[in-house]
Amino acid sequence: MSGSACSASAVGREASASEPFSFRTLYRQRQTTPNFEGARLTLRRRVNFQVARFQRLRRHVRVAALPYVLTVDPLNGCNLHCPHCMTGAGKHGHDVTTLPRALYARLLDELAPTLLLVEFGNWGEPLLDRRLPDLIEAASARGLGTIVATHLSVPLDDAQARALVASGLNVLGVALDGARQETYEQYRVGGRLELVVENIARITRAKRRLHSTTPRIVWSYHVFAHNEHEIEEARARAAALGVDFAFSKGFVTGPDWDPEGRFPFIFEARDGEQVEPCSFLWERAVVSADGGVAPCLGAFSPEDDCGRLDGHTFREVWNGARFKEARRFYRAAPESLGSPEPLCAGCPQTVLFGDYRAHLAGGGTTASFAPGLTAHDGWNYFFHRARPRRLRDEPVSAGARRVPVSAPSPAAASLARRMVS
Ligand SMILES: C[S@@+](CC[C@H](N)C(=O)[O-])C[C@H]1O[C@@H](n2cnc3c(N)ncnc32)[C@H](O)[C@@H]1O
Ligand code: SF4
Repeated sequence: MSGSACSASAVGREASASEPFSFRTLYRQRQTTPNFEGARLTLRRRVNFQVARFQRLRRHVRVAALPYVLTVDPLNGCNLHCPHCMTGAGKHGHDVTTLPRALYARLLDELAPTLLLVEFGNWGEPLLDRRLPDLIEAASARGLGTIVATHLSVPLDDAQARALVASGLNVLGVALDGARQETYEQYRVGGRLELVVENIARITRAKRRLHSTTPRIVWSYHVFAHNEHEIEEARARAAALGVDFAFSKGFVTGPDWDPEGRFPFIFEARDGEQVEPCSFLWERAVVSADGGVAPCLGAFSPEDDCGRLDGHTFREVWNGARFKEARRFYRAAPESLGSPEPLCAGCPQTVLFGDYRAHLAGGGTTASFAPGLTAHDGWNYFFHRARPRRLRDEPVSAGARRVPVSAPSPAAASLARRMVS
């Protein structure tokens, strides 16, 4: 589950869901449109962004704005077996397939006028799909920023490296969690660190030959207990390769490996920040390789999809019954709506927002709100909700509402790191 595109928790003003739409309030509450690398900021895109933000803060159930970030899996399989990833752990998700070209073209036709960014790679390895450069090129040609999230541990020749550069890709995020093979492979099971490094060098050479400044390559290091000692060595290797380096805390299933919060999660909020409704239900689209539209990056099973694009436009799904139901959870407690089953009902972000509203209603302030849920709880919620493959015929459970799979330690709770992407 990638969070690279839009993880900053924007702090908006507290807004009443019943406040009617007016251009005046829209103007008053406008925010700076994100400047995603490569995105052309047309007037229509800027307006759509403002309306999406506005409708999110007001928790509109039926929306006029379309998402401005699209995450799409060109292919939802992977050749590695990362133990804390649902794909790597062999959970039951969508059938492994590739995104139909016609469906992708139709999706771009519909969303490109308002989109800013396309991120390739959610629960699969995008570079296993050899059509990836073509898919990127189609997005670049429409003035969209593009990001690929890859482990890059796939054989790549010069022609493929060149095609990737020529596609116009803006950012290549390479997940490389170690400076040495024996450390790296503890999480990236089946991965070959030297192959990844070779590929980075190959793509860098292709950039040079094509006189291209893109893609910006980011060595993205997920920190775990087993690899924290190699961060500086990895940073030095990244510098020697001439690529950027970034690290964030890796999620694990079970107890948080770093309860003192020495390392920051990619999704992070601080004490005293306003909690906003989930960004995905108003601002971001997530499409699986089989055309399923998921409510967010954490959704893994087809049963949790909000609709499908074969036979429907994106907007039909976006304003369909399941998305509207999910948005209603931000206006009233899921139990009161008599529908605890969908993914969003028990999601820590929904729970956290409900707690925050109750805190304000009880006379508390944003500054005094101290939630106990963290991004770690979010990862565990999604992971444990997804069923193992062998149980694929059993019904989806209601999830782990309020009870994180591993209760946050007091230290973790007091650090109040929580999931507000
Ligand atoms: C599920 S992966 C799919 C893309 C690609 N296969 C990869 O691993 O980069 C999407 C994103 O989640 C990140 N990711 C995987 N396991 C993670 C973990 N345990 N903690 C934090 N991020 C993780 C990946 O590095 C990547 O940025
Ligand atoms: S490389 Fe990515 S998709 Fe593959 S198992 Fe690891 S995290 Fe999951």
